[in-house]
Amino acid sequence: MRLTTFGVGYVGLVTGTGLAEIGHQVLCLDVDAEKVARLERGEIPIYEPGLGDLVKRNERSGRLHFSTQLTAPYDQSELYFIAVGTPPLPDGSADLRAVFSACETIATTAKKAALVVVKSTVPVGTCDLVQERLEELAPGRFEVVSNPEFLKEGSALEDFFKPDRIVVGAKSDRAKATMRTLYAPLQLNGERLVITDPLSSELVKYASNTMLAMRVSFMNELSRLCHVTGANIHSVRAGVGADSRIGRKFLYAGPGYGGSCFPKDVQALAALGRAKGVPLRLAEATHLANDDQALFLVNLVRESLGSLEGKRIAFWGLAFKPETDDVREAPSLKLAEALLDAGAHVVGHDPEGAKNFVKALNRDGVSVVDSEYDALNGSHAVIVLTEWRCYRAPDFAEIRARLAGDRPVALDARNIWSPAEVEASGLHYVGIGVPSTARARS
Ligand SMILES: NC(=O)c1ccc[n+]([C@@H]2O[C@H](COP(=O)([O-])OP(=O)(O)OC[C@H]3O[C@@H](n4cnc5c(N)ncnc54)[C@H](O)[C@@H]3O)[C@@H](O)[C@H]2O)c1
Repeated sequence: MRLTTFGVGYVGLVTGTGLAEIGHQVLCLDVDAEKVARLERGEIPIYEPGLGDLVKRNERSGRLHFSTQLTAPYDQSELYFIAVGTPPLPDGSADLRAVFSACETIATTAKKAALVVVKSTVPVGTCDLVQERLEELAPGRFEVVSNPEFLKEGSALEDFFKPDRIVVGAKSDRAKATMRTLYAPLQLNGERLVITDPLSSELVKYASNTMLAMRVSFMNELSRLCHVTGANIHSVRAGVGADSRIGRKFLYAGPGYGGSCFPKDVQALAALGRAKGVPLRLAEATHLANDDQALFLVNLVRESLGSLEGKRIAFWGLAFKPETDDVREAPSLKLAEALLDAGAHVVGHDPEGAKNFVKALNRDGVSVVDSEYDALNGSHAVIVLTEWRCYRAPDFAEIRARLAGDRPVALDARNIWSPAEVEASGLHYVGIGVPSTARARS
């Protein structure tokens, strides 16, 4: 089939490349001329494991193209995928301007009838509004399908080729059949399609992200309770997660969730509830609890270091999670803001996200280094904010030797280190709801 994706971000580029890889002719279109130019030069504007090789292979095969314009022959695509950003507006609701702009380009440029597939995360009812707009501009030519994206940054290709589920919200049998055909090659070992109406499909996406965020926020709240009671969040997680009705996944306390999806999707669902007169109290609380966790982390640093004025603090991990360069809404940004405001200096390391971190923060008092150990030189504390594999089994004696002070602080905001091992090296261990051995003994 001939296909076009709008947006060459994390979703659009992975989707377009994946569809080319299984044999389709694909144009990836973006209004960002610089991103398109980089892709045309063979550079990948984002870090996603395996993506660079796949893009190059499919470009060489002639199945994958990049452009800022919808030009022939892709103005005769059978499907147009909208994978543009839907960032939050100040009231938490989703900004849909890019979605409608893409829809208008399709309506005014496409030369034949086609499906318009909305992959962007959009509030319930958006596909109907997109359909209305298309009818105004080009009556009877397009049908809108909801097909929310569930990929996880860091394993996006794996998620594309082996999805847990593919959710399709469509009205006509023809649209449902086309989507079934499109995704059949990804389900050779068993169908994982959930076919429903567009409204339900749109809600599945928000419900899934909010449910996951809610688990994280609940464990974060429990970690704060552990902190004051002396209970250990590791044991709590093991005990709670052993219940097969609950399961072990997404029960990790940490610095609060971040990224381009959870924060905005939780808020957008809450905003939708408010707009429709159905208060979604759990979504509201999930968001508030996440903000509280960011404050808790700042207080942990203060509690461990005293005055922050003039202190130098090393961050290990800047991306919102491992295996991505994405720092949108990352805990590292919130913490850095607070520490800089208090007069500290931050020196960061991240295998992929350092450049984006500096750009997003855009403040003095911050530097980044290429080696994680170099971030420690003369610092008063190290804080692990992202559980990249390279931070999991470090040389604690080396950390101790490079940090300043008698008993420097190792704040393990991802709970990946053994308190006993860290403390045996002469460091002061601080975890999230994990008693240090000193506290556990007292
Ligand atoms: N990133 C994720 O992990 C993820 C996962 C699932 C769903 N989503 C959802 O998918 C959507 C895209 O997310 P993303 O992370 O890929 O965003 P992104 O910000 O990485 O990329 C969006 C791209 O869309 C482009 N764009 C904006 N307006 C355009 C237009 N009119 N025509 C063509 N291109 C246009 C931008 O220039 C940008 O390159 C969002 O709604 C997001 O919530 C994201």
